[in-house]
Formats: sequence, C-alpha cells, structure tokens
Amino acid sequence: MKDFPTLKIAFTAIIAGILLVVFIAGFRDVAADYFGLRFGERRFTKPPIEVFPDMDRQLKVKTQHPSAIFTDGRADRSPVAGTVPKGIPVDNPYLLTGRFGNRWGTGIPIEVTEQLLARGQERYNINCAVCHGKAGLGNGVAAQYTGLAGVVASLHQQRIIDQPDGQIYTTIYHGKGQMLGYPHISVEDRWAIVAYVRALQRARMATLRDVPPEIQQVLLTARGPAETDQPVNSNQ
Ligand code: HEC
Repeated sequence: MKDFPTLKIAFTAIIAGILLVVFIAGFRDVAADYFGLRFGERRFTKPPIEVFPDMDRQLKVKTQHPSAIFTDGRADRSPVAGTVPKGIPVDNPYLLTGRFGNRWGTGIPIEVTEQLLARGQERYNINCAVCHGKAGLGNGVAAQYTGLAGVVASLHQQRIIDQPDGQIYTTIYHGKGQMLGYPHISVEDRWAIVAYVRALQRARMATLRDVPPEIQQVLLTARGPAETDQPVNSNQ
C-alpha cells in the first residue's frame, strides 16, 4: 500500500473505529465479569470470573458443615473418649453438671460469700440483664426492642423459683428453649449467677418479717397513710 497513503489512513481509521466500538460496548461486561464492577441497574446472574480468589475457598472444616475428610461425613468431632476439661475438677459432678445422676441437685456447691454474690451480680448484669432485665423481670433492653418481648422469661415466676439450683445452673450452661447457653461462663461464675438469681427472687418475696425488728418499725412508720379494705360503717 506504499503508493496509496490515503487508503492506508482510511484503513487504519476503520480498524481503530471498530476497535473503539468493541471496546466501549464490551466495557460494561468486562468490568462486570472480570472486576465485579456494576453500573446502573444491571443485574448479573453469573458470578464474576475471579482473577484473584483471595483464599475465598479453603480446605478446612467448618463447624456444623459436612466434611468429606471423615467417614461419617461430619466436620464436628467429639472429644476423644476419656478427655477431661482443663482446669475443671472432674471429681465433683454436681459442681460441673448441677445433677446427681439423672436427678437435679440443689444448693450452691461453692461457698456463698458476699464476694460471690457481688461477682454473681456483676456477671448477671453483663450476661443476663440485657434480656432478663436488672431485676429479672424479663424486660431487659433486648426484650423491649426486639421480637423477644414476652418471650424472655421473668425469673420471678413461681415455676422458676421452685426449680432446683442445679436446673438454673444448667439453663445458664446449656440454654433452654429459645435461650442459648453460656458455656463460656466459668463454672464458678455460673454458680455465682445462680446465687444472685436466688437473691433477686428472694428480694421480691421478702416480707416485713425478713427485716430486723428495729427496721420493721422504721418501715412501718415510713409507709404513710393508706387505704384499708374495711368499709366505713354507715352510722359512723
Ligand atoms: C438473648 C436473651 C437472653 C439472655 C442474654 C439470657 N436469657 Fe435467659 N431466657 C431467654 C429466653 C428467651 C428465655 C425463655 C426460653 C423459652 O422458654 O423458650 C429464657 C429463659 C430463662 C430461664 C427459665 C428457663 C426455664 O426453665 O424455663 C432462666 C432461669 C434464665 N433464662 C436465666 C438466664 C440467666 C441466668 C442468664 C445469664 C447467664 C440468661 N438467662 C441470659 C433469653 C435470654
């Protein structure tokens, strides 16, 4: 084409024009397919081609997922038979499980001191109050602002007051119904919380007789005037 410079220019222009059109037309697809970019309302049904997979898929087991590594097809494994928990006494099953064989036990198996109750209060306020409320009425913030209203149990129900300590301990440990367990709370702290739940329940069941006589008098006078259930006699 040495002798036809005009033709050469025209030919180059046509090729360049075609390339430009292809480039612009293909840009959205290329952007979407190769780089995962999206423009406007366009939706893609195919996953983008991955240039860098960024370790999205890894050869590892995930909890509650199947796994081909083991013959039973499960990723979750049971501890080897005879495994004992580290740092937890195994010679006191009640301390650990709240049960004696297949019966609930009751009573706090560690010494109940003021410090233990204070610890129980602190742990309760951190772990439980969000749902059960600081006083245990089942009206914590989570209960008020989520669908849990009316679902979270009031800890002052007679049914729960009557439960053995071991059962409350187990509810904390493993959860119950819609409540998840708190296995990460230590054994001592679970019992401390049980003791504090008992204190909360006791506080609402208290009568005048539970306070020392000198304070009873103070409370009686502090009460102020109140209506009685005695009807006024019409001839008085
Ligand atoms: C995320 C909210 C939530 C938290 C936090 C929570 N609970 Fe609960 N709890 C519930 C719900 C909901 C129920 C009612 C479960 C049901 O009946 O299905 C319940 C029920 C209970 C019951 C009654 C179980 C029974 O026998 O019916 C006890 C006791 C209890 N919780 C204690 C605790 C203690 C102690 C803590 C702190 C360690 C705690 N909960 C933390 C939501 C919660």
